[in-house]
Amino acid sequence: MFETITAEVDAANSALGRLTLNRPDKLNPLSATALQEIADAAKWFDDQKTIKVVVVSGAGRAFSAGADLGTFAGKQKLSIREASDLGRTMADAVENMRALTIAAIRGWCVGGGVVLASACDLRIAATSARFSIPEVDLGIPLAWGGIPRLVREIGPAMTKELVLTCRRFDATEAKSIGFLNRIVDESELDREVIDLAASLAAKASHALFSTKRHVDAVTAQMIGLRHSWSDADGLVTAFGDEECAAARKTYLDSKN
Ligand code: COA
Repeated sequence: MFETITAEVDAANSALGRLTLNRPDKLNPLSATALQEIADAAKWFDDQKTIKVVVVSGAGRAFSAGADLGTFAGKQKLSIREASDLGRTMADAVENMRALTIAAIRGWCVGGGVVLASACDLRIAATSARFSIPEVDLGIPLAWGGIPRLVREIGPAMTKELVLTCRRFDATEAKSIGFLNRIVDESELDREVIDLAASLAAKASHALFSTKRHVDAVTAQMIGLRHSWSDADGLVTAFGDEECAAARKTYLDSKN
């Protein structure tokens, strides 16, 4: 059904779904195809009437290494504006799913991977989880609705620190600033997440979904996502800016 992800209903419990980023050899980067497929999968899960909880994870040793660096090297079919808006569409689609979503994070969770995780309702990480938001070093602003989502989850000061410095942070710090609900041992991650998903899925749909919607309505009043429509314009501007281009070249050269 998909090229870069898998989306499935659990064979043993039709209330559970799994959305898995599935390019483990490349640490599950978010290419244009992956972003479109995640958004399509979110809609597909909405059509599966039995689904109450969807676990979002990455195959292999990472959750996601963020935006596909191949994109920055110019391998792109869409217009720059269209490509720049795909991440916002993806994050909105995940956040607006009817089902509850749990991000299960092991290993690297970088840039757009952090945005994807922040669009989920709950986040559980293994002790191995490592985070960074390197966009500013790449000479671009954090887009895809990442800023309001981070402000919502961890507050403005930590958002500014982590986005501006681009420094790495571990699961302990991510939990301490409120980004994670729980940290569990690496070997326990899958079981802990499925146990939590199953226990939630056993509850009444109306109560579950109303609670999700209610919390989302409150946070939308506090910190809405409505301004994120223009995030793509910030990216397009960065792509045309000389100083940003120099920063991007330095960053990409350091990754080759
Ligand atoms: N896009 C495309 N490919 C990526 C990728 C990305 N964002 N991140 C990693 N990969 C690929 C690597 O090129 C490598 O491929 P190869 O084996 O064919 O050479 C593979 O995934 C493994 O990555 P590697 O760098 O060897 O793993 P590591 O454990 O040493 O380092 C990271 C992990 C996440 C620290 C490092 O891969 C990294 O910094 N990636 C870039 C993150 C980034 O800048 N994302 C964009 C955010 S806006």
